[in-house]
Amino acid sequence: MTPLLRQVLSQVDGPDPRANEVVAALVAHLHAFVEEVRPTEQEWLTGLDFLIETGRLCTPHRNEFILLSDMLGLTSAVDDVNHQGPANMTPSSVEGPFHSPAPVRALGDWISHGPERGRGTPTVVHGRVLDCDDTPLAGSEVELWQSDDAGLYDSQDEAQEIGNLRGLFTTDAEGRYLFRTIRPSSYPVPTDGTAGRLLRAVGRHPMRPAHLHYRVSAAGHRPLVTHVFLAGDPYLGSDAAYAVKEELIREPRVRDSGWEMDGPYEEIEFDLRLVPLDWKPE
Ligand SMILES: [Fe+2]
Repeated sequence: MTPLLRQVLSQVDGPDPRANEVVAALVAHLHAFVEEVRPTEQEWLTGLDFLIETGRLCTPHRNEFILLSDMLGLTSAVDDVNHQGPANMTPSSVEGPFHSPAPVRALGDWISHGPERGRGTPTVVHGRVLDCDDTPLAGSEVELWQSDDAGLYDSQDEAQEIGNLRGLFTTDAEGRYLFRTIRPSSYPVPTDGTAGRLLRAVGRHPMRPAHLHYRVSAAGHRPLVTHVFLAGDPYLGSDAAYAVKEELIREPRVRDSGWEMDGPYEEIEFDLRLVPLDWKPE
């Protein structure tokens, strides 16, 4: 430890022990980073300007810091350390920047009501919300949001009404949910800010594999925020947000008829197993 680092750490002595722990570890890692990288003063200023610009880009509708965190794998790392549970639980995954309140819909409803309905692949998505012992969780809230067939969310696309491709469902007595939609597309994250500049600097693409977002809550259980990903997507192995987990990938099945659909469609079945609030590691 350098004398300088020892001096800085000796003055971390506030009333909140956790705050002291966090600040001391952050300072120690930052000093180690400087020792390793030996940035020039111009590089240090460039780094500070990058953070200042990231803050300037943030608005009530855009959070460039969350995007930057996602692109660095930081959001997924925080997710990993906070969501331990039984082996068969449905893993969580990052919320991403596109969540907003969803309209309440009835089981079986379409969530696609924009021009994408005439272009996209009709898709039925269904499954059950269960406890980790497979007990159905009736009355659970299942909130969905997804992009359209061009990879755009309602907030990014003037052709879509706000609330399109979103829905809030309540599971039936068997814990089942079901809705009709169109197949989402892979899409690039916004690249016109500092997160995009970082991706270009290190030679990375901005694509996220096709997915639907879920936020599920049930009495007596931990809320779950996760994704379901579509098998076969070319970006599954290189998600710009590092959010893919094997257990979250499903293969859409092609069907000729059923579920009151007008013609052929794809079916995605995805059960979600929630962790009881009182779960403790063995
Ligand atoms: Fe998304």
